[in-house]
Amino acid sequence: MRHLISWEDYSADEIRRILDISADLKKLALEGNRPPILERMVIGLLFEKPSLRTRVSFECLANQTGGSSLFLGSDVGWGTREPIQDFIPILTSYIDCLVIRAKNHDDVVQASKYSRCPVINGLTDLNHPCQALADLMTVDELFGGFEEKKVCYIGDANNVAYSLALLACKLGARFSIAAPDGYQFSKEAVDSIESNSAAQGLFEQTTDPVQSASGADAIYTDVWTSMGQETEAEKRKQDFAKFQVNRELFKHANDNARFLHCLPARRGEEVTADVIDSDISATIVQAENRLHAQKGLIVWLLTEAT
Ligand code: CP
Ligand code: NVA
Repeated sequence: MRHLISWEDYSADEIRRILDISADLKKLALEGNRPPILERMVIGLLFEKPSLRTRVSFECLANQTGGSSLFLGSDVGWGTREPIQDFIPILTSYIDCLVIRAKNHDDVVQASKYSRCPVINGLTDLNHPCQALADLMTVDELFGGFEEKKVCYIGDANNVAYSLALLACKLGARFSIAAPDGYQFSKEAVDSIESNSAAQGLFEQTTDPVQSASGADAIYTDVWTSMGQETEAEKRKQDFAKFQVNRELFKHANDNARFLHCLPARRGEEVTADVIDSDISATIVQAENRLHAQKGLIVWLLTEAT
């Protein structure tokens, strides 16, 4: 049985296959065709943190494919009412797929060990693989493939950045991150991204946003303060002040470069309104692609994965 905890566990061919299924299902959906490919399947959603996109896209894709969803918040007592070795096998004997959004990455890893059905990481402190899948699907749609394409990420080397770097380099795109000292990827993270890359030299880490944005096809950012880091917000505003995505930075990117953001965004902090609210922003289709990409992922996990 396969889970999606992090893209390290997947081959490039498997990811391309998931993206192909997702693209086919998106095409059908846009034609008004919703085949019942997950008929009677139940997707459980176990969430420790707030969510709009992740929760609603999984719940909608379950309904659109003939299945159903079950949202489980704090009242089910995960981690408080009974131990994981009882909680997870029981929960996953009722359902067909479990999406977990957790504060601690290791809790999702542990849950997958006790699970009787595929577990999907719906965001942890270290990873956001579903977001990256939709991001690369969007890059593919916008630019027609990954090779010779440059994705630039400005800001915190966080969960979103890590999954994005891993997936982009695995699929053969160039990925450059500009982050301040103290907020960059660890050596361990860099080693993992580089060892997962389709070729040498695809990954770059710098403290210079202009260097990173130069020749970029997509400029991506995320909030400076992630969920759970709220006490650091004021310090982070100061530390990231020179790492804002704005019109000036876009002058260094390719002429047809587009803006990406996982959302939610803070206008005036990591991105200016005249970027995110303009025609160069692809954030709405990127968010829509969460639904199509995750549909492809679940279909692959439940029908093709070996
Ligand atoms: N991008 C993302 O995961 O959004 P939510 O936190 O709203 O799910
Ligand atoms: N880095 C952000 C992403 C939210 C989708 C967070 O973890 O809060």
